[in-house]
Parts: sequence; C-alpha cells; structure tokens
Amino acid sequence: MRRIEIFDTTLRDGEQTAGVNLHLHEKLEIARALEQFGVDIIEAGFPASSPDEFQAVQKIAETVRGVRIAALARSHPGDIDRAWEAIRNAAGPRIHVFIATSPIHMQYKLRLTPDEVVERAVEGVRRAKRYTADVEWSAEDATRSDWDFLVRIVTEVIRAGATVVNLPDTVGYTQPQEYAAMFRYILERVPGIEKVKLSAHCHDDLGLAVANSLAAIQAGVTQIEGTINGIGERAGNAALEEIALALKVRQDHYRAETGIRTEHTVRVSKLVSKLTGIPVPPNKAIVGANAFAHESGIHQDGVLKHAATYEIMSPEMVGLSSNRIVLGKHSGRHAFREKLKELGIAVRSDEELDRLFAAFKALTGKKKEITDDDVLALFVDMAAPA
Ligand code: KIV
Ligand code: ZN
Repeated sequence: MRRIEIFDTTLRDGEQTAGVNLHLHEKLEIARALEQFGVDIIEAGFPASSPDEFQAVQKIAETVRGVRIAALARSHPGDIDRAWEAIRNAAGPRIHVFIATSPIHMQYKLRLTPDEVVERAVEGVRRAKRYTADVEWSAEDATRSDWDFLVRIVTEVIRAGATVVNLPDTVGYTQPQEYAAMFRYILERVPGIEKVKLSAHCHDDLGLAVANSLAAIQAGVTQIEGTINGIGERAGNAALEEIALALKVRQDHYRAETGIRTEHTVRVSKLVSKLTGIPVPPNKAIVGANAFAHESGIHQDGVLKHAATYEIMSPEMVGLSSNRIVLGKHSGRHAFREKLKELGIAVRSDEELDRLFAAFKALTGKKKEITDDDVLALFVDMAAPA
C-alpha cells in the first residue's frame, strides 16, 4: 500500500477564494482542525504578501505542532527570507518556492527567457535550502509548459536541493490521462527523481481537479495538494475530502492510503464553510447536506433493507450519525411506515396505514419536504372526530 501525503492549502490557495478574508484566530482554529483531520502538511500562507499574513503564518507555526508547516514564496530572495522568518519555529518547517514555467507566463508575466527562469528557480531553491532541508519547488502552470523544459528545470532544482517537486495544473486545463502522462514523462527522464516526493496540485476550472489528482496518484505521485470543500481561486482547488474518501472507499483500485481521519470530515468541512462564509452546495460529494439523503421510494426501500444498496460508504465514516430518509413526493410506503414507527405512531390496521399514506401523498403535492411535525399533524387530523 502506497502512502499518499496530504498537503492542505486551505489557508493559502483556499483563502484566495473571492470574498474570503480570515482573521488570525479563525486561521488558527482551522489549522487545529486540519491537524486533527490528519493532514501531513499545512500551507499556512504567503508571508511576504502582508504583515497580517506573516503574523498568522508565524502564529500557526508556533502553535500547531503535530504537522509540518509550509510557507509560500516566489523565487525572490526577499520572499524566501520572509517565509523562513515566519516558520522558523515550526516543529517541521517547509519553504515552498514557485516560479512559472509555461511560455505564456514566462513571456508576459515574468518577462524572462526560459534560461533566466531556470537560473531563478535554482537560486530560489538554493536560498531556501540555506534555511531548511525541506524545500518544495513548484512549476506554476506546469500543465501548459513544454514537457522537455519541465524535465530540464526539474533536474536542475533537484540538483539544487529541492525535496518535493510539485507540478500544478494552475488553470484547471489538463485532462486526467494527460496529467498522468506528464508525470510519467518526468518520472522516466529526470535523474534522481526517485529521491524526491512528486506532488500534484489541481484547480477545478473544468470540474476535473479531483479526477486529475487521482490520475496523478496512479501515475506515481505521492503528495496531493488541495483544500477543504475545494475552495480556492476561481472554480477552486481539488477537494481534499473527496480525494481522501475516494482512496479509502476504492482502496482496491488505488492501493494507496492517507493519514486522514475521515470521521472528522464533516466537522472540518462545516468549520471551513462557517469561517470563510462559502456555503457547501447540498449535492456536493461527501459533505453536501444531501450526500447521505435518500428521497425516492425505491432507494428508501433499498437502504432500509440494507444500507449498502445505495450507500458506498457509511455516514459514520465521514462523521455523521446516520443517513437521512427524506419524505417527499417520491417516497414510498416502506419509508413512511418507518417514519411513523420512529415518531411512536402505532397504526392499528392496513386500512389506517392506507389512509395516512394517501393523506401524506396528497400533502406532497403542496410541500416539497414533509417534516416530522407534518406527519404528526396528519395523524392528529385523522384521529380527530369528524
Ligand atoms: O496553482 C498554482 O500553481 C499554485 C502555486 C503557487 C503552487 O497555487
Ligand atoms: Zn493553486
């Protein structure tokens, strides 16, 4: 079984979600929850970006001791020095240096030639290496970069001392087979690649961040980067809870495991949603309000007989106490009878059940979801003398 390390960037890339602005005490609360959740690395922020950001990263590094703490830096001496200042007291500090490698970023954003980018990347890694052994290097926009250029620059940064090499799909452009092929290309051609950790970092512009991350794992990547609830720039990052559960539920397929304590999933998801103000859509995989809800009669009948008929993981696995049988217009007699039992309503005959069920069905024509109070009211109405 391969061990996949989980690199959480909720507090850095996740905080780059439009409209999100976390205060120091909120970041600390999230960092503690991530530690309990079992992530391996927390990217606490980008210290050179502002004094507040620096202070938050420093505080997290000093307080949250059970995980490694990473700080992001551009390949600039000032950024790298500032990153180190912020995390120097962490139990396990990591400097994460990045530079863009795609033609469009090198030409228009950096205004540097490919040779100059290689030089800057090497200088950045060497500078970070003066401070700490644990240095991650990222090729921003790797998926729109020339693969042979990636081979060249990755070879050089490994020689300079990078211990983790991350090839991000910065703009959510790649496709699963293509992303996997890119990693295989690098793995087959870069000398010494087996000595470093290879990492995937995906964005969700085409809704493929999780699929691309899983494809990268199949290609040999051993670190996955993402955020809780998939928050992040534009359409967001890969949702870590989805990756962790995919690896757990389909261990037979991936033959890989993480250190994630999945029973903390719903708690950490709710906390991130509350503090960032970004709601979780009801149909979101794993943590959406409907992820364990059953509405149709056929499904309700199935799960009441055996949960595995329509549930590929148990609600307990993600920290819920039970699934949810929703009474609505698609519900059948089985679910309705179970609800009566749960509410302590004793039905004396099949005729009585028929009448109550008919009244329930009529009510679903007026209301989308029938609550416990609605069912009790049906019973009281029926019991009342005409
Ligand atoms: O998406 C990206 O390329 C990033 C890098 C800074 C790692 O977030
Ligand atoms: Zn990113």
